[in-house]
Amino acid sequence: MSVQEGFTTKRKREDEYEELEKQLLEIRTARFQATTEDQIRTFVVAGLQNLIEKVSNLRKSSKARALLRAARSQLALTLYQDTELFWKGDAVATALGCKYKLARAVMSYDFPEHEAACVDGNDDHRDMVRVLDKALSAQMLARLARAFAPRSAFWSEHQYDAVGTGGRPLGYFSYVHALAPTTSDTYMDTVIDEVYKLACDKFEDMRHARYAEWWAHCRPHSSGHQMHFDSDDEGNCGVRNPICSTVIYLTRAGLGGPTLVTDQTLASTRLAEKGWLCHPRYNRVCMFDGKLLHGVVPGRGPVEDPSERRVSLMIAFWRDIQVRGNGDNDPGAARSFPSASATYSWPRDLKQEPSTVTTEDPVEPTEVLLARGRPVWEDVDRKANGFMELSKLLCVPSYALCFQGF
Ligand SMILES: [Fe+2]
Repeated sequence: MSVQEGFTTKRKREDEYEELEKQLLEIRTARFQATTEDQIRTFVVAGLQNLIEKVSNLRKSSKARALLRAARSQLALTLYQDTELFWKGDAVATALGCKYKLARAVMSYDFPEHEAACVDGNDDHRDMVRVLDKALSAQMLARLARAFAPRSAFWSEHQYDAVGTGGRPLGYFSYVHALAPTTSDTYMDTVIDEVYKLACDKFEDMRHARYAEWWAHCRPHSSGHQMHFDSDDEGNCGVRNPICSTVIYLTRAGLGGPTLVTDQTLASTRLAEKGWLCHPRYNRVCMFDGKLLHGVVPGRGPVEDPSERRVSLMIAFWRDIQVRGNGDNDPGAARSFPSASATYSWPRDLKQEPSTVTTEDPVEPTEVLLARGRPVWEDVDRKANGFMELSKLLCVPSYALCFQGF
Protein backbone atom coordinates (compact mmCIF):
# COMPACT_ATOMS: atom_id res chain seq x y z
CA MET A 1 0.00 0.00 0.00
CA SER A 2 1.35 3.40 -0.98
CA VAL A 3 1.59 6.28 1.49
CA GLN A 4 -1.34 7.92 -0.28
CA GLU A 5 -3.43 4.73 -0.09
CA GLY A 6 -2.58 4.32 3.60
CA PHE A 7 -3.64 7.89 4.26
CA THR A 8 -6.93 7.40 2.39
CA THR A 9 -7.69 4.16 4.31
CA LYS A 10 -7.00 5.88 7.64
CA ARG A 11 -9.22 8.82 6.69
CA LYS A 12 -12.01 6.42 5.63
CA ARG A 13 -11.76 4.55 8.93
CA GLU A 14 -11.93 7.79 10.91
CA ASP A 15 -15.00 8.86 8.94
CA GLU A 16 -16.63 5.50 9.79
CA TYR A 17 -15.96 6.00 13.52
CA GLU A 18 -17.29 9.53 13.39
CA GLU A 19 -20.44 8.36 11.64
CA LEU A 20 -21.02 5.63 14.25
CA GLU A 21 -20.30 8.03 17.13
CA LYS A 22 -22.91 10.33 15.64
CA GLN A 23 -25.36 7.44 15.48
CA LEU A 24 -24.78 6.62 19.15
CA LEU A 25 -25.45 10.24 20.08
CA GLU A 26 -28.66 10.16 18.04
CA ILE A 27 -29.76 6.99 19.83
CA ARG A 28 -29.01 8.56 23.23
CA THR A 29 -31.07 11.58 22.24
CA ALA A 30 -33.88 9.28 21.06
CA ARG A 31 -33.79 7.57 24.48
CA PHE A 32 -34.04 10.91 26.30
CA GLN A 33 -36.96 11.94 24.10
CA ALA A 34 -38.88 8.63 23.94
CA THR A 35 -42.48 9.12 24.99
CA THR A 36 -43.61 5.49 24.48
CA GLU A 37 -42.23 2.02 25.30
CA ASP A 38 -42.49 1.24 21.63
CA GLN A 39 -40.10 4.07 20.70
CA ILE A 40 -37.59 2.76 23.22
CA ARG A 41 -37.72 -0.74 21.72
CA THR A 42 -37.82 0.38 18.09
CA PHE A 43 -35.28 3.20 18.05
CA VAL A 44 -33.10 2.54 21.04
CA VAL A 45 -32.84 -1.24 21.49
CA ALA A 46 -32.90 -2.08 17.77
CA GLY A 47 -30.67 0.92 16.95
CA LEU A 48 -28.06 -0.11 19.53
CA GLN A 49 -28.07 -3.75 18.41
CA ASN A 50 -27.49 -2.60 14.85
CA LEU A 51 -24.74 -0.19 15.91
CA ILE A 52 -22.97 -2.85 18.00
CA GLU A 53 -22.91 -5.17 15.01
CA LYS A 54 -21.35 -2.46 12.83
CA VAL A 55 -18.73 -1.51 15.45
CA SER A 56 -17.85 -5.19 16.01
CA ASN A 57 -16.95 -5.43 12.32
CA LEU A 58 -14.59 -2.48 12.45
CA ARG A 59 -10.85 -2.81 12.82
CA LYS A 60 -10.01 -3.15 16.55
CA SER A 61 -8.65 0.06 18.05
CA SER A 62 -9.03 1.97 21.31
CA LYS A 63 -11.63 4.20 19.62
CA ALA A 64 -13.65 1.19 18.42
CA ARG A 65 -13.44 -0.46 21.86
CA ALA A 66 -14.65 2.71 23.60
CA LEU A 67 -17.54 3.03 21.16
CA LEU A 68 -18.48 -0.63 21.58
CA ARG A 69 -18.39 -0.30 25.35
CA ALA A 70 -20.57 2.82 25.35
CA ALA A 71 -23.14 1.18 23.03
CA ARG A 72 -23.21 -2.05 25.05
CA SER A 73 -23.60 -0.15 28.35
CA GLN A 74 -26.56 1.78 26.96
CA LEU A 75 -28.10 -1.42 25.55
CA ALA A 76 -27.68 -3.42 28.78
CA LEU A 77 -29.29 -0.62 30.79
CA THR A 78 -32.19 -0.27 28.35
CA LEU A 79 -32.82 -4.03 28.44
CA TYR A 80 -32.52 -4.27 32.23
CA GLN A 81 -35.03 -1.45 32.65
CA ASP A 82 -37.63 -3.12 30.41
CA THR A 83 -39.63 -5.73 32.33
CA GLU A 84 -40.13 -7.82 29.18
CA LEU A 85 -36.54 -7.63 27.92
CA PHE A 86 -34.75 -7.73 31.27
CA TRP A 87 -33.51 -11.29 30.73
CA LYS A 88 -31.57 -10.23 27.61
CA GLY A 89 -29.42 -7.79 29.59
CA ASP A 90 -27.13 -10.43 31.11
CA ALA A 91 -25.56 -11.43 27.78
CA VAL A 92 -24.69 -7.78 27.08
CA ALA A 93 -23.35 -7.19 30.60
CA THR A 94 -21.21 -10.34 30.23
CA ALA A 95 -19.86 -9.02 26.92
CA LEU A 96 -18.89 -5.87 28.85
CA GLY A 97 -16.88 -8.03 31.24
CA CYS A 98 -19.21 -7.36 34.20
CA LYS A 99 -19.74 -10.06 36.84
CA TYR A 100 -22.17 -8.11 39.03
CA LYS A 101 -25.03 -5.76 38.27
CA LEU A 102 -27.27 -3.42 40.19
CA ALA A 103 -30.16 -5.59 41.37
CA ARG A 104 -33.29 -5.91 39.28
CA ALA A 105 -35.38 -4.20 41.99
CA VAL A 106 -33.01 -1.22 41.73
CA MET A 107 -32.53 -0.77 37.96
CA SER A 108 -36.08 -1.80 37.17
CA TYR A 109 -37.47 -0.02 40.22
CA ASP A 110 -41.19 0.20 40.99
CA PHE A 111 -42.73 3.50 40.01
CA PRO A 112 -43.59 5.80 42.91
CA GLU A 113 -47.27 4.86 43.01
CA HIS A 114 -46.25 1.22 43.49
CA GLU A 115 -43.47 2.23 45.84
CA ALA A 116 -46.02 3.96 48.07
CA ALA A 117 -47.93 0.69 48.32
CA CYS A 118 -44.70 -1.07 49.33
CA VAL A 119 -44.06 1.22 52.28
CA ASP A 120 -44.40 -1.12 55.20
CA GLY A 121 -43.67 1.23 58.06
CA ASN A 122 -40.17 -0.16 58.11
CA ASP A 123 -37.52 2.11 59.58
CA ASP A 124 -34.31 0.18 58.98
CA HIS A 125 -32.92 3.21 57.15
CA ARG A 126 -33.35 5.87 59.81
CA ASP A 127 -29.75 5.77 61.07
CA MET A 128 -28.53 6.34 57.53
CA VAL A 129 -31.21 8.00 55.40
CA ARG A 130 -34.04 10.31 56.38
CA VAL A 131 -36.64 11.67 53.98
CA LEU A 132 -38.99 14.59 54.56
CA ASP A 133 -41.89 15.79 52.43
CA LYS A 134 -43.18 19.39 52.49
CA ALA A 135 -39.75 20.07 53.88
CA LEU A 136 -39.38 23.74 52.96
CA SER A 137 -41.84 26.60 52.64
CA ALA A 138 -43.82 26.90 49.41
CA GLN A 139 -42.17 30.29 48.79
CA MET A 140 -38.68 28.89 49.23
CA LEU A 141 -39.33 25.98 46.88
CA ALA A 142 -40.90 28.23 44.28
CA ARG A 143 -37.91 30.57 44.39
CA LEU A 144 -35.41 27.72 44.12
CA ALA A 145 -37.40 26.12 41.30
CA ARG A 146 -37.25 29.46 39.43
CA ALA A 147 -33.53 30.02 40.05
CA PHE A 148 -32.70 26.46 38.88
CA ALA A 149 -35.35 26.11 36.15
CA PRO A 150 -33.89 24.29 33.11
CA ARG A 151 -33.81 27.50 31.06
CA SER A 152 -32.40 29.67 33.85
CA ALA A 153 -29.16 31.59 33.62
CA PHE A 154 -27.60 29.30 36.25
CA TRP A 155 -27.16 26.46 33.77
CA SER A 156 -26.23 28.44 30.67
CA GLU A 157 -23.72 30.59 32.55
CA HIS A 158 -22.03 27.42 33.86
CA GLN A 159 -22.15 25.88 30.36
CA TYR A 160 -23.99 22.96 31.92
CA ASP A 161 -25.02 20.15 29.57
CA ALA A 162 -28.74 20.03 30.38
CA VAL A 163 -29.42 18.04 27.20
CA GLY A 164 -27.30 15.20 28.55
CA THR A 165 -25.61 14.20 25.32
CA GLY A 166 -22.42 16.22 25.33
CA GLY A 167 -19.54 17.00 27.62
CA ARG A 168 -19.72 19.80 30.16
CA PRO A 169 -16.53 21.80 29.57
CA LEU A 170 -16.34 23.14 33.10
CA GLY A 171 -16.92 19.82 34.88
CA TYR A 172 -18.08 19.80 38.49
CA PHE A 173 -18.78 23.10 40.22
CA SER A 174 -19.99 23.90 43.74
CA TYR A 175 -20.15 26.76 46.21
CA VAL A 176 -19.21 26.91 49.89
CA HIS A 177 -20.85 28.97 52.66
CA ALA A 178 -19.88 29.30 56.30
CA LEU A 179 -22.78 28.43 58.59
CA ALA A 180 -24.35 30.82 61.11
CA PRO A 181 -23.51 32.95 63.07
CA THR A 182 -22.01 34.39 59.84
CA THR A 183 -24.47 36.85 58.33
CA SER A 184 -26.79 35.58 55.63
CA ASP A 185 -25.60 37.46 52.59
CA THR A 186 -27.53 35.53 49.97
CA TYR A 187 -30.83 33.72 49.70
CA MET A 188 -28.83 30.49 49.49
CA ASP A 189 -27.67 31.16 53.08
CA THR A 190 -31.33 31.20 54.12
CA VAL A 191 -32.00 27.93 52.28
CA ILE A 192 -28.89 26.34 53.81
CA ASP A 193 -29.99 27.45 57.25
CA GLU A 194 -33.39 25.75 56.83
CA VAL A 195 -31.88 22.48 55.57
CA TYR A 196 -29.24 22.64 58.31
CA LYS A 197 -32.00 22.73 60.95
CA LEU A 198 -33.73 19.74 59.36
CA ALA A 199 -30.49 17.74 59.22
CA CYS A 200 -29.50 18.69 62.81
CA ASP A 201 -32.78 17.23 63.97
CA LYS A 202 -31.98 13.87 62.33
CA PHE A 203 -28.18 13.42 62.49
CA GLU A 204 -26.36 13.87 65.77
CA ASP A 205 -22.97 14.61 64.18
CA MET A 206 -24.42 17.67 62.49
CA ARG A 207 -23.58 19.62 65.64
CA HIS A 208 -19.99 19.66 64.32
CA ALA A 209 -20.95 21.21 60.95
CA ARG A 210 -19.37 24.59 60.19
CA TYR A 211 -19.67 24.81 56.41
CA ALA A 212 -22.15 23.94 53.69
CA GLU A 213 -21.26 23.13 50.10
CA TRP A 214 -24.00 23.20 47.44
CA TRP A 215 -24.27 22.14 43.82
CA ALA A 216 -27.13 21.27 41.50
CA HIS A 217 -28.09 19.02 38.61
CA CYS A 218 -30.55 19.32 35.73
CA ARG A 219 -30.85 16.02 33.87
CA PRO A 220 -33.14 14.29 31.36
CA HIS A 221 -35.50 11.66 32.78
CA SER A 222 -33.45 8.64 31.67
CA SER A 223 -30.11 10.06 32.77
CA GLY A 224 -28.55 8.87 36.03
CA HIS A 225 -25.48 9.44 38.19
CA GLN A 226 -22.96 6.70 38.85
CA MET A 227 -22.45 5.34 42.37
CA HIS A 228 -19.99 7.51 44.31
CA PHE A 229 -18.92 8.89 47.66
CA ASP A 230 -19.37 12.62 48.16
CA SER A 231 -15.91 13.99 48.67
CA ASP A 232 -14.02 17.22 49.13
CA ASP A 233 -12.58 18.42 45.77
CA GLU A 234 -13.99 15.29 44.06
CA GLY A 235 -11.52 13.12 45.95
CA ASN A 236 -8.49 14.65 44.20
CA CYS A 237 -6.38 14.49 47.35
CA GLY A 238 -8.00 11.37 48.82
CA VAL A 239 -11.65 10.86 49.70
CA ARG A 240 -12.95 12.90 52.64
CA ASN A 241 -16.69 12.67 53.25
CA PRO A 242 -19.07 15.35 54.53
CA ILE A 243 -21.00 14.82 57.78
CA CYS A 244 -24.31 14.72 55.98
CA SER A 245 -25.44 15.13 52.37
CA THR A 246 -28.88 16.32 51.36
CA VAL A 247 -30.87 16.35 48.13
CA ILE A 248 -33.71 18.82 47.57
CA TYR A 249 -35.93 17.78 44.69
CA LEU A 250 -37.21 20.73 42.69
CA THR A 251 -39.31 18.89 40.12
CA ARG A 252 -42.35 16.63 40.04
CA ALA A 253 -42.68 12.98 41.08
CA GLY A 254 -42.08 10.47 38.30
CA LEU A 255 -39.55 12.67 36.49
CA GLY A 256 -36.13 11.05 36.64
CA GLY A 257 -34.97 8.03 38.60
CA PRO A 258 -34.65 7.62 42.37
CA THR A 259 -31.65 8.42 44.52
CA LEU A 260 -30.10 5.14 45.71
CA VAL A 261 -28.38 5.29 49.10
CA THR A 262 -26.52 2.17 50.23
CA ASP A 263 -24.94 0.95 53.46
CA GLN A 264 -21.49 0.77 51.84
CA THR A 265 -18.77 3.10 53.13
CA LEU A 266 -15.19 3.62 52.08
CA ALA A 267 -14.14 1.33 54.93
CA SER A 268 -16.43 -1.52 53.78
CA THR A 269 -14.76 -4.76 52.80
CA ARG A 270 -17.89 -5.95 50.93
CA LEU A 271 -20.20 -4.46 48.35
CA ALA A 272 -23.31 -2.83 49.79
CA GLU A 273 -25.78 -5.31 51.19
CA LYS A 274 -28.73 -2.98 51.54
CA GLY A 275 -29.92 0.06 49.64
CA TRP A 276 -32.86 2.45 49.86
CA LEU A 277 -34.56 4.23 46.99
CA CYS A 278 -35.78 7.77 47.48
CA HIS A 279 -37.96 8.89 44.58
CA PRO A 280 -37.88 12.51 43.50
CA ARG A 281 -40.90 14.57 44.53
CA TYR A 282 -41.35 18.33 44.57
CA ASN A 283 -40.42 19.71 48.00
CA ARG A 284 -38.97 16.41 49.23
CA VAL A 285 -35.61 16.46 51.01
CA CYS A 286 -33.49 13.33 51.26
CA MET A 287 -30.75 13.46 53.92
CA PHE A 288 -28.13 10.80 54.43
CA ASP A 289 -24.92 10.06 56.28
CA GLY A 290 -22.15 11.60 54.15
CA LYS A 291 -20.04 8.43 54.38
CA LEU A 292 -22.47 6.34 52.32
CA LEU A 293 -22.08 5.24 48.71
CA HIS A 294 -24.94 6.58 46.63
CA GLY A 295 -26.03 7.47 43.12
CA VAL A 296 -29.02 8.16 40.89
CA VAL A 297 -30.70 5.28 39.07
CA PRO A 298 -31.47 6.32 35.46
CA GLY A 299 -35.18 7.03 35.02
CA ARG A 300 -36.90 4.05 33.42
CA GLY A 301 -39.58 3.95 30.76
CA PRO A 302 -40.76 6.80 28.57
CA VAL A 303 -41.13 10.43 29.60
CA GLU A 304 -44.32 12.49 29.28
CA ASP A 305 -42.62 15.66 28.07
CA PRO A 306 -39.07 15.32 26.67
CA SER A 307 -38.27 18.95 27.48
CA GLU A 308 -38.72 18.35 31.23
CA ARG A 309 -35.64 17.88 33.43
CA ARG A 310 -35.08 16.28 36.84
CA VAL A 311 -33.69 19.21 38.83
CA SER A 312 -32.09 18.71 42.23
CA LEU A 313 -30.15 20.90 44.61
CA MET A 314 -27.59 19.19 46.83
CA ILE A 315 -26.23 20.59 50.11
CA ALA A 316 -23.45 18.79 51.98
CA PHE A 317 -22.43 19.81 55.50
CA TRP A 318 -18.78 19.81 56.55
CA ARG A 319 -16.69 20.22 59.67
CA ASP A 320 -14.11 21.79 57.45
CA ILE A 321 -13.64 22.39 53.75
CA GLN A 322 -11.20 24.52 51.85
CA VAL A 323 -12.62 27.25 49.62
CA ARG A 324 -10.83 27.18 46.27
CA GLY A 325 -10.51 29.30 43.15
CA ASN A 326 -9.42 32.77 42.21
CA GLY A 327 -12.56 34.75 42.91
CA ASP A 328 -15.65 35.44 40.85
CA ASN A 329 -16.47 33.85 37.51
CA ASP A 330 -14.09 30.96 38.08
CA PRO A 331 -16.40 27.94 38.40
CA GLY A 332 -15.07 24.72 39.91
CA ALA A 333 -15.24 22.71 43.12
CA ALA A 334 -15.83 24.57 46.42
CA ARG A 335 -15.89 28.21 45.25
CA SER A 336 -17.18 31.08 47.33
CA PHE A 337 -20.55 32.48 46.26
CA PRO A 338 -19.80 34.92 43.41
CA SER A 339 -21.13 38.42 42.94
CA ALA A 340 -23.34 39.23 39.98
CA SER A 341 -21.33 40.55 37.06
CA ALA A 342 -21.51 41.14 33.33
CA THR A 343 -20.94 37.42 32.71
CA TYR A 344 -22.74 36.04 35.78
CA SER A 345 -26.33 37.15 36.23
CA TRP A 346 -27.49 34.05 38.16
CA PRO A 347 -26.30 35.26 41.62
CA ARG A 348 -28.97 37.97 41.31
CA ASP A 349 -31.63 35.22 41.30
CA LEU A 350 -30.37 34.13 44.72
CA LYS A 351 -29.99 37.60 46.19
CA GLN A 352 -31.13 38.05 49.78
CA GLU A 353 -34.40 39.93 50.23
CA PRO A 354 -34.47 41.56 53.70
CA SER A 355 -38.02 40.41 54.45
CA THR A 356 -37.70 36.87 53.05
CA VAL A 357 -37.85 34.84 56.23
CA THR A 358 -40.72 36.66 57.89
CA THR A 359 -42.97 36.45 54.82
CA GLU A 360 -42.58 32.71 54.31
CA ASP A 361 -45.27 30.26 55.48
CA PRO A 362 -44.55 28.03 58.48
CA VAL A 363 -43.36 24.56 57.47
CA GLU A 364 -44.55 21.24 58.83
CA PRO A 365 -42.35 18.54 57.27
CA THR A 366 -43.66 14.98 57.26
CA GLU A 367 -41.25 12.10 57.51
CA VAL A 368 -41.41 9.42 54.81
CA LEU A 369 -40.61 5.83 55.70
CA LEU A 370 -38.93 4.13 52.79
CA ALA A 371 -39.50 0.55 51.71
CA ARG A 372 -37.30 -1.96 53.52
CA GLY A 373 -33.62 -1.94 52.48
CA ARG A 374 -33.10 -4.34 49.58
CA PRO A 375 -30.10 -6.06 48.00
CA VAL A 376 -28.17 -3.60 45.87
CA TRP A 377 -26.14 -6.02 43.72
CA GLU A 378 -26.73 -9.36 42.00
CA ASP A 379 -24.53 -11.77 40.08
CA VAL A 380 -24.83 -11.33 36.32
CA ASP A 381 -24.37 -15.10 36.02
CA ARG A 382 -24.01 -16.81 39.40
CA LYS A 383 -22.92 -20.16 37.96
CA ALA A 384 -20.30 -18.62 35.70
CA ASN A 385 -18.99 -16.48 38.58
CA GLY A 386 -18.02 -19.65 40.50
CA PHE A 387 -15.69 -18.76 43.36
CA MET A 388 -16.29 -15.09 42.50
CA GLU A 389 -19.99 -15.45 43.26
CA LEU A 390 -21.28 -12.36 45.05
CA SER A 391 -22.05 -14.16 48.33
CA LYS A 392 -18.49 -15.57 48.42
CA LEU A 393 -16.62 -12.30 47.81
CA LEU A 394 -14.19 -11.30 50.55
CA CYS A 395 -13.40 -7.84 49.20
CA VAL A 396 -14.94 -5.06 47.14
CA PRO A 397 -14.50 -5.99 43.45
CA SER A 398 -13.19 -3.49 40.94
CA TYR A 399 -15.56 -0.89 39.60
CA ALA A 400 -15.28 -2.31 36.06
CA LEU A 401 -16.82 -5.63 37.15
CA CYS A 402 -19.99 -3.97 38.47
CA PHE A 403 -22.63 -2.92 35.94
CA GLN A 404 -24.62 0.09 37.06
CA GLY A 405 -25.91 1.52 33.81
CA PHE A 406 -22.86 3.57 32.77
FE1 LIG B 1 -23.39 12.65 45.66
